[in-house]
Amino acid sequence: MKSYQKLTTDVSQITEAGEEGADGKPLCHQKLSAWWLGGGLLMVATLLSGVTVWVLGQIWWDQHGIPFWSKCTSVPENRRFDCYPERNVIVTRELCEGRGCCFVDSERPLDRMKGVPWCFYPPDFPSYTLGSMNETDLGMVGFLTRKTKAYYPKDIEKLHLSVEFETDSRLHVKITDATNPRYEVPLDVPQATKRAENPLYSIEFCKEPFGLIVKRRVSGTVLLNTTVAPLFFADQFLQISTVLPSTFLYGLGEHESNFLHNLEWNTLPLWARDVPPAESYNLYGVHPFYLLMEKGGAAHGVFLLNSNLMEVVLQPAPALTWRTIGGILDFYIFLGPDPNLVVRQYQQVIGFPAMPPFWGLGFHLCRWGYETSNKTWEMVKAMRNFQIPQDAQWNDIDYMNGSRDFTVDSERFASLPQLVEDLHKHGQYYVLILDPGISSTQPPGSYWPYDEGLKRGVFINNTQGKPLIGNVWPGFTAYPDFSNPNTHRWWLENLNRLHALVPFDGLWIDMNEPSNFIDGSTEGCSQGELDNPPYVPGILGGFLSARTICTSAKQSVSVHYNLHNLYGLMEAKATASALVEIRGKRPFIISRSTFPSQGRYSGHWLGDNQSEWKDMFWSIPGMLSFSLFGVPLVGADICGFFKSTSEELCIRWMQLGAFYPFSRNHNSQDEQAQDPTAFSPAGRTAMKEALELRYALLPLLYTLFHRAHLQGDTVARPLFFEFPKDEATYALDKQFLWGRGLLVTPVLESGADSVTGYFPRGVWYDYYTGSSVNSSGESLRMAAPLDHINVHLREGTILPTQKPGGSTWLSRRNPLRLIAALSQNANAWGDLYWDDGESLDTFEKGDYSYLVFNVMQNTFTSTVLHSSVEATYITVEKLSVYGVREEPKTVTVSGKDWPFTYLTNQVLSVSDLRLPLSQGFYIRWM
Ligand code: NOJ
Repeated sequence: MKSYQKLTTDVSQITEAGEEGADGKPLCHQKLSAWWLGGGLLMVATLLSGVTVWVLGQIWWDQHGIPFWSKCTSVPENRRFDCYPERNVIVTRELCEGRGCCFVDSERPLDRMKGVPWCFYPPDFPSYTLGSMNETDLGMVGFLTRKTKAYYPKDIEKLHLSVEFETDSRLHVKITDATNPRYEVPLDVPQATKRAENPLYSIEFCKEPFGLIVKRRVSGTVLLNTTVAPLFFADQFLQISTVLPSTFLYGLGEHESNFLHNLEWNTLPLWARDVPPAESYNLYGVHPFYLLMEKGGAAHGVFLLNSNLMEVVLQPAPALTWRTIGGILDFYIFLGPDPNLVVRQYQQVIGFPAMPPFWGLGFHLCRWGYETSNKTWEMVKAMRNFQIPQDAQWNDIDYMNGSRDFTVDSERFASLPQLVEDLHKHGQYYVLILDPGISSTQPPGSYWPYDEGLKRGVFINNTQGKPLIGNVWPGFTAYPDFSNPNTHRWWLENLNRLHALVPFDGLWIDMNEPSNFIDGSTEGCSQGELDNPPYVPGILGGFLSARTICTSAKQSVSVHYNLHNLYGLMEAKATASALVEIRGKRPFIISRSTFPSQGRYSGHWLGDNQSEWKDMFWSIPGMLSFSLFGVPLVGADICGFFKSTSEELCIRWMQLGAFYPFSRNHNSQDEQAQDPTAFSPAGRTAMKEALELRYALLPLLYTLFHRAHLQGDTVARPLFFEFPKDEATYALDKQFLWGRGLLVTPVLESGADSVTGYFPRGVWYDYYTGSSVNSSGESLRMAAPLDHINVHLREGTILPTQKPGGSTWLSRRNPLRLIAALSQNANAWGDLYWDDGESLDTFEKGDYSYLVFNVMQNTFTSTVLHSSVEATYITVEKLSVYGVREEPKTVTVSGKDWPFTYLTNQVLSVSDLRLPLSQGFYIRWM
């Protein structure tokens, strides 16, 4: 192995730099090795001339005497890092070379360049130099300096670098201004107290230009190598690039895209924005986190803790560039090595998601434009009449008086309190919408939220220190500043008053990007650099205040420029604590805008989709991405928001939506009704059955949420999380799992009566019949009549299911049916978490039951590891065992002979058990 430039320190985790990468290229820049190895003339020339490039006639050489053109053309296309990402300029040779970059006129027509930059950094573009590193308790620190100015204003000359070995699987790298404090995201992140003893990673540094290389120790895989392009750290332009060890990259939301990202010159902007989802747009939320599958099945993740407007550029090297216009570069790197562990490790930093109330996992029904409370009530009654499961009825802004928050239209919604009372009597729940914009046009004294908000100074101010006024549904509005603790108090008081009128159970926080129908404010925005930064990433609209408020606006913690992407998170936090105070129970909140750590306070729906087949498909990658982001309570508007659905689409979508962790059918105003009662008897029945299937599986779903809350497991899970060595699973986003063992293969096309799905190697059982298929890792075509969704059980899984009812209130006390799907060694495993479904912190307080189910040696055992009174109210009624190869002669239940049935498809069933869930038992077949 060749050795190039080296930086050695006495810190054991720093290995020698300079080995070659997988492609045979040195990881640190080769020329710089000369600098470091102290060699000869070349070094002297470099020192004397800095990075000066001189021009002689039309021929350019760099400081090493290498002609510019050859240096430039030697950079392969896929390794060209864009030196001129500005969108509003035509990049000429002059402009490009003015930045000291390579301009290569392509012989290929532009449309065939497909994003390859023709202005890119030469290999020796000047950047920062790393001085010596000093050891600290947790890692090491050092300084980076640059001798030449970069081309963005307020370039920061001296940076502070800190590297902390926080845990064996978590590395924390932070680069910030060494002299002046800068804005940092106000998120509670864990502080390590002890340095990792046996890290999975090694880290290497290149001195000049500065670069960082992170490797997986066991395999030597280079996970990050930032030497491939220069580091920038100007006040409003920060950029760092890295090569990636594979193209299997996921995350980086919120976007409408395939789950597996396309790395063919794909720029992903991250800026919270109110817009109906479309490919390549920045959408409602921001999640600067990616997960990458390395060759061989290991995974790692990277989180950039930065809330400023940014974009992430993906290119086929494969490589990735983070480009942000504020804050600092604060990276967490998670080494997994299993993808499930990467997501867990990420959530150890951002926080594990809240445990939702049990009813929150039931079916929710909503539409914009019920128009009156009586019509809403009719809806609820129709659902009950057809015995279609429903847990929560929602109302959109039409319940409000003039679309104003905290008001109820006293004419159209006069019967709302009675409706809510009726829901509660039936064990059902009521959720209503709130928008952040507070109407600012009511006569003084007539609208408490605004009057009192003004008095207490809770609104976001413009640069003149007056409440910034935008325009949303009620007309002109001010925006609460949720970064101010006084605002939380005011929000709570408003909610308390509303709750006294309408005792809602959950809240839907919408429009919280925050949305604004006029760009900026009624008075426009300032001419300053906060509203007009020197570089604007490729966001929709092309400027920061497009459909939102001015970024120069002032909030209590910082300027909106820094806090914009945090608006939905901060609102959710205020709303969650208010709901706890008001109801004393677990809060149920669904938010449109989200940011890392959102899952601690709310779930998310995927926004304003359309009643189109492709939109139904997009919901799967959307949902899986939010599983990665630690927001497991996620779903799309079932049957689509805009446009009118067809019965076929809506049936298929209700089937898929029955497997969204958050399951809500929501419709826009003026569209045809799309609730289950609106369709033909056959359509209605198919939808009812889909929901009954969901309700039957709620004990499983609830247990999965417990595991998410406890340790950051995913609920809706990509297949490759369970089969990381099977590359055929890496691009799958038309199927998904619930937990480790329930595979869902929905129909996503019109007119289909069959569906093709991939089955990783092993035995899979049809959920409904127990019939099995032993897959070698293959795609299989299955019948999928309109009233059927394919669901399979992975070998070795035990599922707790429950007889469904019209609501979770009715189903929660129903008897359980346990389904064991045997592995090829005739084993299986499953578990169940059970509590009262709504009290706060049941796990933390010990008010829960936790059971583990096992099959070994023809014996099913239920072991109660923790018990509370709730488990005494339900019984286990039936056990079905899939994959019992031989017909048993006898079955005993806790030692007593018991009748059973055995079918030729190898399904053993033992019924009428009536075993209390709170006591362990065993069932044996011989
Ligand atoms: C936008 C939301 O995304 C949508 O779901 C809602 O119906 C409308 N706002 C009206 O409140």
